[in-house]
Amino acid sequence: MTALYLRARVMTCNGPAPDPLGLVDDGAVLTDGAQVVWVGAAADADAACRALDVVPAERVDLGGRLVTPGLVDCHTHAIFAGDRAAEFAMRARGEGYLEIARAGGGIAATLGPTRGASDATLERLTVDRLMAARATGTTTIEVKSGYDLTVAGELRLLRVIARAGAHAPLAVVPTLLCHVVPPERRADRDDYLHELVTALVPAVAADRLATSVDVYCDDGAFTRDETARILVAARDHGLAVRAHVGQFTDQGAAELAAGLGARSVDHLEQVSAAGIAALAAAGTVAVMLPGACVQLRLPPPPVAALRAAGVPLAVATDLNPGSSYTTSLPLQMWLATTHLAMTVEEAWLGVTRIAARALGLADRGVLAPGARADLVVWNAEHPAAVPYQYGASLVERVITAA
Ligand code: NIG
Ligand code: FE
Repeated sequence: MTALYLRARVMTCNGPAPDPLGLVDDGAVLTDGAQVVWVGAAADADAACRALDVVPAERVDLGGRLVTPGLVDCHTHAIFAGDRAAEFAMRARGEGYLEIARAGGGIAATLGPTRGASDATLERLTVDRLMAARATGTTTIEVKSGYDLTVAGELRLLRVIARAGAHAPLAVVPTLLCHVVPPERRADRDDYLHELVTALVPAVAADRLATSVDVYCDDGAFTRDETARILVAARDHGLAVRAHVGQFTDQGAAELAAGLGARSVDHLEQVSAAGIAALAAAGTVAVMLPGACVQLRLPPPPVAALRAAGVPLAVATDLNPGSSYTTSLPLQMWLATTHLAMTVEEAWLGVTRIAARALGLADRGVLAPGARADLVVWNAEHPAAVPYQYGASLVERVITAA
């Protein structure tokens, strides 16, 4: 159904420098329900409709409110069962994430509940999280597997992610995550790696269960060489490459991932100047995860150096039961603009156009003809209002492409 949204403060997130947010003060957006057809000044809307031979079925007066592209959350671990509230309390008392993980907590503590949950339960838990994300403005969400870690179990998680996506009114992008070596495979680590590259990655590619493969490269997770093996297998099977890089220690994985043409590297609290230069040269997106950074009391990633080098910056929730249990991108925008010293413009582009780029999607994250008709109407006029009023929900309405 065609709809014309009028009296809107339109933020296209598609403007050229020096106004990348592309604000149109008294603007209008015309959609056919599936795609954006036209964006411009409200005064030109009727002429545009005539020229396009469109009689809008609906004319919606937005009363001067801000309207933006639907938000894109490009990094979540939204499929898991159980919770780790007790670990949160331990960390609040001063215990470290890595110490808790070494004592049997951390990612390993989510494996049992997730493996033990039925498909139906996992689907319901995931859909609930997707709906919570949508309520805060997210219209495209990436969901990683990674809390089963057996070959059959990871394939099951990816199938359930697809089913959850089919049952929720937002777009879901599945990613295979090679998270850590599970405890029961630490004694035969090499065999486990062999299974990942000869069975899991090929099966994911053959059944099109994910569009990209992500590897967590860090102390306690995969080494740089192991990460290289997995990512090369992914690339050889036609899957895009991503990596969790430098959350605790710099393993040289930014250089590695950039060299493999990675779409994104995520976290980056620890990254060298050479790593930053490699990301810039490759055009790899750096995904900032400020919620996990603050919660684990890590030093902020080097935003100024990344910006100076021209590395595109995205911002995501990292939704997971350990380090960042949230579905809210507006909250991450507040953390990005305060704790990480990103600008308001960078925060907006980071949850829209650049986040879409991290997922390899050119048809969203902007309001422009041909983009998906994913829009958020905010109870705000100024773009800064959304991160500024942190913790409040300023979402008036979320519209997702039919
Ligand atoms: O992105 N860094 C690795 N994985 C998650 C944490 C997962 C967990 O603690 O369960 C992250 O922060
Ligand atoms: Fe993560």
